[in-house]
Amino acid sequence: MTTKRALIKMIGLSAVSLAALTACGKKDDAPAAPAAEAPAPAAAAEKLKIGFMYVSPVGDGGWTFQHELARKAIQEKFGDRIETAMVESVPESADSERVMRDMVGQGNGLIFATSFGYQEFVQKVAADMPQVRFEHATGYKQADNVAIYDAKTFEGAYLAGIVAGGMSKTKTVGVVASVPIPEVVRNINSFVLGAQSVDPAIKAKVVWVNEWFAPPKESEAAATLINGGVDVLYQNTNSPAVLKTAEERGARAFGKDGDMSAFAPKAHLGSAVIDWTPYYSKVVQDTLDGQWPAGSFWWGVKEGAMDLVKIADDVPQDILDKVGKARDGLKDGSFAVWTGPIKDNSGKEVLGAGQVADDAFLTGINFYVNGVEGKVPGAQ
Ligand code: GUN
Repeated sequence: MTTKRALIKMIGLSAVSLAALTACGKKDDAPAAPAAEAPAPAAAAEKLKIGFMYVSPVGDGGWTFQHELARKAIQEKFGDRIETAMVESVPESADSERVMRDMVGQGNGLIFATSFGYQEFVQKVAADMPQVRFEHATGYKQADNVAIYDAKTFEGAYLAGIVAGGMSKTKTVGVVASVPIPEVVRNINSFVLGAQSVDPAIKAKVVWVNEWFAPPKESEAAATLINGGVDVLYQNTNSPAVLKTAEERGARAFGKDGDMSAFAPKAHLGSAVIDWTPYYSKVVQDTLDGQWPAGSFWWGVKEGAMDLVKIADDVPQDILDKVGKARDGLKDGSFAVWTGPIKDNSGKEVLGAGQVADDAFLTGINFYVNGVEGKVPGAQ
């Protein structure tokens, strides 16, 4: 299990914020009471203005593209009751604070900040603007006017892993990893657990690029993995660069967050897609109804927020059946990805037989599972 010190070191948290993480880490739907200081909902005739802040370009084909699709979907759904706008390619720096303050200045009453590294800036702006509601994707710090939300990307990673396990000939899969936070480590491991559910002998290699969106680096990392014997790749970065590299090199890979099948028709094995629309629709409806809840929301396959789509035609039927079974289990709650026995890559048991990880466990993962080479950056 994660030690506090390891986690602090890994994601650069202070002890105070780690306490906040532990307190706020519960990711199931746990809405708090509507924000006490929030104003009455927009009057029926008054438009609710909503701002979206993105870390990468809307054309990234993945993470941000999906947020943008959902923004357009809610604009379409709620029509002239809302007015949405977005700012793309906003770094996780003081730039994001400036963008949010500007959004508030322009009358936005609801702001979606859609990347992990916006966290401190969201907290700062939200503290100054109690009349505005903030929705922070993938963070762990809440406030009366800050809700946190996420998609269970690890479920999509697990479904992709099943396909990888059925398709790898070298028995070595690889992951191009982005920023070393528990979410990303959890996704790497979940992909490998999926692969090992088909073939327990599967090994995995990881290359970190330390950014969410860096196509040249993502390509280089993919090439390094392929040179090292990997024939099926996954990624936690935002662009289709890994898929494109796999296409050039005759390897196979997955789309992540968005449907990336068009970028690499031969290499593509499936895309683990997030649909933010159901959650965004709920938030907008709640806000219009004057019922906006702060709280923590973590939606997955069950809620229609996550799925593996466009599975390649050459994936054998028995593997498709395994994907279908896992998906059905996630939907009806009879299956959880993180069910023991699970060992870390030093051989230590982290979950006993039949033990199902709770949210505190899931949000603190800083080890690699058995079969993954190397160490999580910053972990002890
Ligand atoms: N920002 C861009 N992509 C991501 C992602 O996959 N996860 C998180 N937490 N933030 C992101």
